[in-house]
Amino acid sequence: MDTLQNKKTHEHDFSTSNNENPGPSTCLANKTVLVTGSSIGIGKETAFLFAKEKCKVIITYYKDKEEASLVLKKCIDAGSPEAYALKLNVMDNASIMKLVKTAVGKFKKIDILVNNAGHCCTKELNTQTFEDTEAQIRTNLEGLIKITKAFLPYINEMIINIGSGAGKKGYKDLTTYCATKFGVRGFTQALAEEFPALKIYCVNPGRTATRMTNFKGRPCEQVAAVIVNASKGIYPISQDHDIDVWDVLK
Ligand SMILES: NC(=O)c1ccc[n+]([C@@H]2O[C@H](COP(=O)([O-])OP(=O)(O)OC[C@H]3O[C@@H](n4cnc5c(N)ncnc54)[C@H](OP(=O)(O)O)[C@@H]3O)[C@@H](O)[C@H]2O)c1
Repeated sequence: MDTLQNKKTHEHDFSTSNNENPGPSTCLANKTVLVTGSSIGIGKETAFLFAKEKCKVIITYYKDKEEASLVLKKCIDAGSPEAYALKLNVMDNASIMKLVKTAVGKFKKIDILVNNAGHCCTKELNTQTFEDTEAQIRTNLEGLIKITKAFLPYINEMIINIGSGAGKKGYKDLTTYCATKFGVRGFTQALAEEFPALKIYCVNPGRTATRMTNFKGRPCEQVAAVIVNASKGIYPISQDHDIDVWDVLK
């Protein structure tokens, strides 16, 4: 059994397991869940809640490696039977393929994929650089599509894409971000048509208190709870596959 002390197998890979703690039997227990962008924010709280449900979790980080190692420890302490923190840059094809190889090598199948990694640049379009535009489109839309395509042969059950209220209505200073999130909803709906055997959702939070919003908004724990409840099938799948978080929390 790996331990937190000897878990560091190579530079960008933390891993550990805790098979002595099977915990209560829930419908999610022992499912394998991959949450992209789970070093901080909504993804971090989501990984933690899945761990509390006794899921095996794959956490990914892009720049916040130290944060990810803390999330990993918290997941193991919460009762995840097996957890890993792996580096992922969704803008880099090689990084995506490396994650697939590592994750599938460890688990063979992924029960639930949560496409959460995201980037937002809150500025008038006039002042956005081409790099700002590219980073948002490549992370939020292109990266999400590529991760989904790369993992599709290994997904057992469910894909949860994290959209946004900004994918349902346009907001000032969020032009490109809104475009990506409208795109995520379109992708979700079309994907669900192609793969009716999979449960596919687009979970749309409103403003949530994370680095993305300068920590203004509702607590990310509330959004994470809706994501985990969605994975339990608590909300009926609507025709547009949307789960609007603030509506659910009303
Ligand atoms: N906060 C809100 O108000 C809000 C509202 C609606 C929807 N959302 C959506 O919710 C999701 C999570 O957002 P958040 O608010 O939790 O943001 P956050 O706190 O800024 O976290 C973003 C996460 O994405 C990762 N990430 C960023 N660029 C990446 C890349 N190129 N490759 C892989 N991972 C990358 C980050 O990794 P590192 O930190 O390790 O670099 C981090 O783990 C996003 O899809 C966002 O659009 C947020």
